[in-house]
Amino acid sequence: MLKIGIVGCGAIGKTLAHAIERDFYPKACVFSLYDIDLIKAENLAKELKIKPYVALTLNKLIWHTHLVVECASVEAVRQIALQVIKQNRDILIMSVGGLLGFPEIFELAKKNNRRIYIPSGAIGGIDALRAGSRAKIERITLTTRKAPQNFLDAPYIKEKGIDLNKIDGEVLLFEGSVEEAIKGFPQNINVSAILSLAGTGSKEMLVRIVASPYYTRNIHEIEFEGSFGKFSARIENLPMPENPKTSYLAALSAIATLEKILENVKIGT
Ligand SMILES: NC(=O)c1ccc[n+]([C@@H]2O[C@H](COP(=O)([O-])OP(=O)(O)OC[C@H]3O[C@@H](n4cnc5c(N)ncnc54)[C@H](O)[C@@H]3O)[C@@H](O)[C@H]2O)c1
Repeated sequence: MLKIGIVGCGAIGKTLAHAIERDFYPKACVFSLYDIDLIKAENLAKELKIKPYVALTLNKLIWHTHLVVECASVEAVRQIALQVIKQNRDILIMSVGGLLGFPEIFELAKKNNRRIYIPSGAIGGIDALRAGSRAKIERITLTTRKAPQNFLDAPYIKEKGIDLNKIDGEVLLFEGSVEEAIKGFPQNINVSAILSLAGTGSKEMLVRIVASPYYTRNIHEIEFEGSFGKFSARIENLPMPENPKTSYLAALSAIATLEKILENVKIGT
C-alpha cells in the first residue's frame, strides 16, 4: 500500500484526501497530514474514515510516508521539496510557481533517484507543448482571466496600490514574464510555471492577467507557435468554493496523476 502524506490541508488537500480514500484504497491511503495550521489538519483527519496520523512537523510526516503530496504554498514549496527529496521520498507538487529559478531541486532529485510529479493543474495542452518543444517554440502566451477579488492578496496589487473594488469592466492588470507573474501573483498563476517547465523555459513566454467583476470562472487562454505550427486553447474553470483562486480542475489533475502513479503500485508492497 502506498502511504501518502499530504502537506497543506486546504481546498486541494481536502479534495485529494477524500478522493484517495474513496477511489484508491487499498492501493493507497492518506497516512499522514501536516498543515502549519494544526486545526486544519486535525479537522481533515476527523472527516476521513481511516484516521491519518496528524504530524506536528514536516519531518515527521515525511518519515511516515512513501509519497508526499504538496498542496501548501508557492513560498514554502522549495523548502518542502528539498526536505522531502533529502529524506529519499518522492513528491507530487501543486505549488509549481515556487520551483522556477531553483534548479537545485531537480538536480537533487536526479542525484537521489527521486521523482517529482507535476500534474497538469488548471490547464490542458501540456502534451502538445512538450511535443512542440522537441523542435522550436518561438512564442508562448498565457492570458489568465479571474474576478478581481481573487487578486486581493497579490503582492503586485499591493505594490501598485490598485483598488480592485473600482474595477467595473475588463482590465489588464499585468503583462510580463513568467518570473514577474509568479512574484506578483504567487497564488494565481501556477499554470504559467507548469507551461514554462513543460516547454523550453520561460524566455519565450508572455503572461497577461486580466480582471473583470463579470467573470464567474477562472479562464486560461494558451497560445504557442513554433516550427510545428500553431496551438491555441481556452479553458473556463469552475473555482473551488473553499478557495476561489483555485480551480477544481487543478485538484482533479492531482487525482489523475496519483491514479497514474498507482498503476505501478502493487497491493501489499
Ligand atoms: N498547479 C496548479 O494548477 C494550481 C492551481 C491552483 C492552486 N495551486 C497551488 O496549490 C497550493 C494549494 O492550493 P489550495 O487552493 O489548496 O490552497 P489553500 O489556501 O486552500 O490551502 C493551503 C493550505 O496549506 C497550508 N499551508 C500554507 N503554508 C504551509 C506550509 N509551509 N506548510 C504546511 N502547510 C502550509 C495552509 O494553512 C492551508 O491550509 C497553492 O500553493 C496554490 O497556489 C496550484
